[in-house]
Amino acid sequence: MTLRITPSIIAKSQKGMEGRINLVKDFVDVIHLDIMDGIFVSEESLNFDFKLPKTGCQLEAHLMVDNPDKWVERNWQKADIVLIPIESCERPKEFIKFFRGKSKIGFVLNPETPLDKIKDYLDEINQVLIMTVNPGFYGAKFLPETLEKVRELRKLKPNLDIEVDGGINPETIKMAVDAGANLFVSGSYIMNSSNPQEAIKVLQKLCRP
Ligand code: DX5
Ligand code: ZN
Repeated sequence: MTLRITPSIIAKSQKGMEGRINLVKDFVDVIHLDIMDGIFVSEESLNFDFKLPKTGCQLEAHLMVDNPDKWVERNWQKADIVLIPIESCERPKEFIKFFRGKSKIGFVLNPETPLDKIKDYLDEINQVLIMTVNPGFYGAKFLPETLEKVRELRKLKPNLDIEVDGGINPETIKMAVDAGANLFVSGSYIMNSSNPQEAIKVLQKLCRP
């Protein structure tokens, strides 16, 4: 199973986004774009018609928006993987159908949302993202209790891509690995580092057995 460190990009402008992507693009396979509309979460990020620079990386869009239909309709082609918050998703089955043969699709569970909400779709999606912080910004507090969902999901689906997002750093990543996650998003630990390449390497080393 793939073990992967994915840096996350929060940005309010085209320039800010490009600057952050340039910091990490040569060292990873996938970049995570945090899309926030100021409604689903109070902050905004990439909430404009951004133009992605050429990179050799796949792009993963993590939607934190009140109306995922609207975002998907306009922007789905920007991402290789689209992660939709189950809390604001009115018709999960329609999204699954829409993305078939197009991009990968996953559902996101915020800390308070139980696994039951997505159990019916697990055989039809590529990935699940379990939020390990309350979403909205870099540097939020890691919530270890959210890993219970990772444990339960790993038991149910030994081969599913299970990603964790929020508060992942050298102190917390082992807990997420032990719970059964195989994909790890990291924001502030990588982006605020004076050496993002080194920060990525440290996490990569720690997530391997
Ligand atoms: C925030 C985003 C996360 C964030 C992670 O809610 O969804 O992807 O960028 O940042 P850290 O690692 O600093 O918690
Ligand atoms: Zn995210």
